[in-house]
Amino acid sequence: MKKDLLGLKDLSAESITAILNEAQEMKKIVCQTEKKTKDLAGRTVVNLFYENSTRTRLSFELAAKYMSANAANITASGSSVQKGETLIDTAHTINAMGTDILVMRHSMSGAPHLIAPLVNASVINAGDGMDEHPTQALLDMLTIIEKKGSVKGLKIAIIGDIYHSRVVRSNIYGLTKLGAEVSVGGPSTLIPPEMEKLGVKVFNSVHEAVIDADVVMGLRIQLERQKSGLFPSIREYYRFFGIDEKRLKFAKPDALVMHPGPVNRGVEFSSSVIDGDQSVINEQVTSGVAVRMAVMKILSNGGFNE
Ligand code: CP
Repeated sequence: MKKDLLGLKDLSAESITAILNEAQEMKKIVCQTEKKTKDLAGRTVVNLFYENSTRTRLSFELAAKYMSANAANITASGSSVQKGETLIDTAHTINAMGTDILVMRHSMSGAPHLIAPLVNASVINAGDGMDEHPTQALLDMLTIIEKKGSVKGLKIAIIGDIYHSRVVRSNIYGLTKLGAEVSVGGPSTLIPPEMEKLGVKVFNSVHEAVIDADVVMGLRIQLERQKSGLFPSIREYYRFFGIDEKRLKFAKPDALVMHPGPVNRGVEFSSSVIDGDQSVINEQVTSGVAVRMAVMKILSNGGFNE
């Protein structure tokens, strides 16, 4: 049994499907007035975030509370990390307080993989460096399935800062395991060479990447992680890769517009596309609570059967 959710690379299609099936049930609870289950009654969930977050941190906290868990948050900036305490000592300290589920976000790729074998708690990767963000990809898949019925056979175009994105890696692993056809597009400096080895098509023109797509997913240009030379300028990026209503017409007429957030308006998408009829960006946020409830329920019941 796997007690942790560290990524989708090493998770089977069966386990991914099990999470998505459970999340569909959880979404009904999220959308009703009375949001309460007893699934995590008496359990303790701690969010340990070394990087900023709005959606992921709050949705894990709400998911835990909706399932009757004790939920607490700790950020690096307000903790003894500032006094020099190491990640491993911090994790041991949180584990020693009776924590059942430790949700971790860290700027270092592999940080949750380092901690998971050292603690009794189930560790959930809430984003590690440029590696993976599994619950984001799961919520993206849940949203697609709810709108399109399945991801199998769909053409998914992912456009933006592929190089720095943990979201794209988790989505590629998850979507291809469930039978989708994934293409990525962006400036060649922001597409790492290993992409083609992951079984996706790579395009340096937004038109080619988006043509006939069922889903157009924009990725945030991570200005805080850009090294000089990789990124031209916001104006130039938008001119060649920004998706406005005209470029969106290359995709299928009923294509979904998705973005993990936070969005840079007028960079990845025009405001008219973000707020347009095809956008499911707010629906993704709702799916996020449901997916996190499902993952925590499965982990609290012993984990993944693999
Ligand atoms: N999508 C996502 O991870 O958003 P936050 O950084 O706000 O959690």
